[in-house]
Amino acid sequence: VTIHRGDYAPLPWTVEAVELRIELDPTATRVSSTLTCVRNPNVEAGPLRLFGESMELVELRIDGLVASTTRITHEHGGLLVQLDGDRAEVSIVTHVDPSSNTTLSGLYMSRGGYFTQCEAEGFRRITYFPDRPDVMSRYRVTITADREACPVLLSNGNLIDSGELDDGRHFAQWEDPFPKPSYLFALVAAKLVCLERKLETMSGREVLLQVWVEEGNLDRTEHAMDSLIRSLRWDEQAFGLELDLDRFMIVAVSDFNMGAMENKGLNIFNAKFVLARPDTATDVDYERIESVVAHEYFHNWTGNRVTCRDWFQLTLKEGLTVFRDQQFSADMLAEAAGEEGAASARAVKRIDDVKVLRTSQFAEDAGPMAHPIRPESYQEINNFYTATVYEKGAEVIRMLHTLLGHEGFRSGIDLYFSYHDGQAVTCDDFVDCMAEATGRDLEQFMLWYSQAGTPIVRANGKWLAGDGIYVLTLSQHLPPTPGQPEKAPQLIPVAVGLIDPDGMDMPLRFEGESHVGGTTRVLELGETEQTWRFVDLPSAPVPSLLRGFSAPVRLELDEDDECLAFRMANDSDPFNRWDAGQRYAERVVLSLAESHEHGKLLEVPAAFLNAVRSTLCDDSLDAAFRAQACALPGETYLLERMRPADPTSLRVAMQAVFAAMGAGLADVWLRTYHDMEVNGAYRYHPGDAGRRALRNLALRYLVAGGVSEGVSRAGTQFEYASNMTECFGALAALVMSGTNEGRDGLEVFYSRYRDDALVMDKWFALQVMAWRRDPSEEAPVLDRVASLLGHDAFSMSNPNKVYALLGSFFRGNPGEFHLPDGSGYAFWADRVIELDRANPQVASRMARTLENWRHFAPHLQDEIRSQLERVASTDGLSPDVSEIVGKALAD
Ligand code: ARG
Ligand code: ZN
Repeated sequence: VTIHRGDYAPLPWTVEAVELRIELDPTATRVSSTLTCVRNPNVEAGPLRLFGESMELVELRIDGLVASTTRITHEHGGLLVQLDGDRAEVSIVTHVDPSSNTTLSGLYMSRGGYFTQCEAEGFRRITYFPDRPDVMSRYRVTITADREACPVLLSNGNLIDSGELDDGRHFAQWEDPFPKPSYLFALVAAKLVCLERKLETMSGREVLLQVWVEEGNLDRTEHAMDSLIRSLRWDEQAFGLELDLDRFMIVAVSDFNMGAMENKGLNIFNAKFVLARPDTATDVDYERIESVVAHEYFHNWTGNRVTCRDWFQLTLKEGLTVFRDQQFSADMLAEAAGEEGAASARAVKRIDDVKVLRTSQFAEDAGPMAHPIRPESYQEINNFYTATVYEKGAEVIRMLHTLLGHEGFRSGIDLYFSYHDGQAVTCDDFVDCMAEATGRDLEQFMLWYSQAGTPIVRANGKWLAGDGIYVLTLSQHLPPTPGQPEKAPQLIPVAVGLIDPDGMDMPLRFEGESHVGGTTRVLELGETEQTWRFVDLPSAPVPSLLRGFSAPVRLELDEDDECLAFRMANDSDPFNRWDAGQRYAERVVLSLAESHEHGKLLEVPAAFLNAVRSTLCDDSLDAAFRAQACALPGETYLLERMRPADPTSLRVAMQAVFAAMGAGLADVWLRTYHDMEVNGAYRYHPGDAGRRALRNLALRYLVAGGVSEGVSRAGTQFEYASNMTECFGALAALVMSGTNEGRDGLEVFYSRYRDDALVMDKWFALQVMAWRRDPSEEAPVLDRVASLLGHDAFSMSNPNKVYALLGSFFRGNPGEFHLPDGSGYAFWADRVIELDRANPQVASRMARTLENWRHFAPHLQDEIRSQLERVASTDGLSPDVSEIVGKALAD
């Protein structure tokens, strides 16, 4: 069934208040729900529509009386109930079985405790309800459970009562003062302990913050708590937004489909985004935890206080909240770096975010799942928690920020809350506020919400030496995507600088302007083609376009290797400086892959190695930036850039470049490794993290280059590391290159951490991402993945394990997954089918790893197609997987 955005209609009945009583039991939980239903006078009369799935309806009463069957119509996925008058009280009793709920949506069990996940449509698996985000209600919730098994009972809002019951049971009653949509409901009942802090908010209210975890994990909660406090302070300072509850709780759970969930006052997190201790979590884990905690906290305003009218508007809350968490993280990095390093620190964050966008979102745009940030239709909403809705959505908000300026943007946000606090609204409502607050016409800008695809911006420059004028022509083209053959030109902000031969930015003045306007100007490309004339230039400039990645587009510009090396060494915009190096590296790797296909010798150009050498030796650059600038683009990214994609020859080329960079630059890598040592006890600090990242990168290249001193350094670091970043970085260097030391290291690592589930995820992921040392080697990684499925520490029912083992292999090791005989694909199909029976959301994520199969070389396409067809023809396939494979096969 396909749902269309245009079909939205408000409901004739809404629910003002919900009284829930949930009597928890592993197999027969009784849910009693009383809904105060109110007629919506603006809508034509009709029945009350209740969604419900996977539960038993025990009783339904209207105003206290058992409803006669004539008032109830059963339809697929729910009930229609005939109500009279303007108000009615509907009471429903259902039975659900949390112990057998393997979907991890609705009410389910994890390690003996009860947890809920209701976004997007999980509440209807707990009780019958008009489970749509435009129905906002006040909740009062009573939970009862066995005291021994579940000493802690949590729900949204404030605890108003608790006590003992008969038979070893107890209860707690919670009340949430804010009306909310059902997707923000949450319940936790488990054996947990918490770290807590009291804090005074901006206006002087005292609030209680808690981080709840299993007992043995209490010593891993401090970083999450610190992150929460920083988030709270940042939202006060940056947006004037205060915590509106007396109590704010974070709960860690081991079995969770996604990253985390912003339930009002009771955020539930995948444990991997909460728990951190220096010996178990890496710098990157620390960073991710900080940003996920911030993301969920920021939802309290952008998502909860103002929510989405319908699920097509998902980017209203997600794009905006991702933008906010990105800004928060950039501010945290800048603050840690101090005034001098602030700009570079922000660029480091920007680069990380753009890497994700270009790798995942650009690929999505180029395949069968391409959709605008506000989709026009879907079969299964869970399939639309995508890189497009989240990451491109954040880029769209960022472009508004760029176009309107910080003050303008902020006044638009203020207006948004003043108009829409407490409402369920649309993306148009948001952009209208931005337009009204700033007086700017944003009609064309709205195309970013309705057109799918990655715009291609083509740049051409002409230097008129005699006149000192540089003429820049930009044109845009938006490729067709499924259902959208033709597109209109969008409004694209392009930040531009011009660099002189000494590497300095030139002051910029447009023809007809009386004053110079700085060295970076934002051009607004709104037509198919536009030209700008920069005047008064003393010499031919080198253009630096799309500075800071000012728009989510592919920029095409003819630059030779010298020009890229020049910008790699000189561009004052750190993002573009990094990007120049990435473009250069891409060119080198892809041309080697082509040489391999033609049976030619693979030679890495010395000029490229020299350019990397200069960057690596440039002490004016901070370590984190150098680590990014000296790393090759990701293989997954390059594979998408290669048409047709041939994973085997790409892998050969990657190995050749890794080896050349390691061996050819061995002296500087070794010196860098030495210089970047971090002394003293581990603390998570971005400066230290940058140094550790650069050292680990040095090891990776040295080992890949077969430099024996590098191998021994890695061995020593692995053995003596006092923290996970160094331990794992060294192990990764050894394992990725398929060394014997790596094989032994994996065993040592296993015996050290076998009881630590989150660390074991790293162990699974690393070994299935390893590259083969030489192509004739026996046991390919596929065999290892298959045998690890039977490992004691592995479980198909734990999403983190599936993502670590299967996700890392399917997505992170193309050279080993895409075997020419197609055996990887048959394995993939078996796993997708197996997973789908238990957990469609996880299965669908795995299914998506082959959606861009049409980009591959023909012999691989045939193999993939037959496996896609096998999955598609499986009986009882979920809507989740069926939508993915159906779209992949459609032409
Ligand atoms: N709103 C959550 C977040 O962005 C994600 C929830 C995803 N849930 C789902 N069923 N797809 O943090
Ligand atoms: Zn979110």
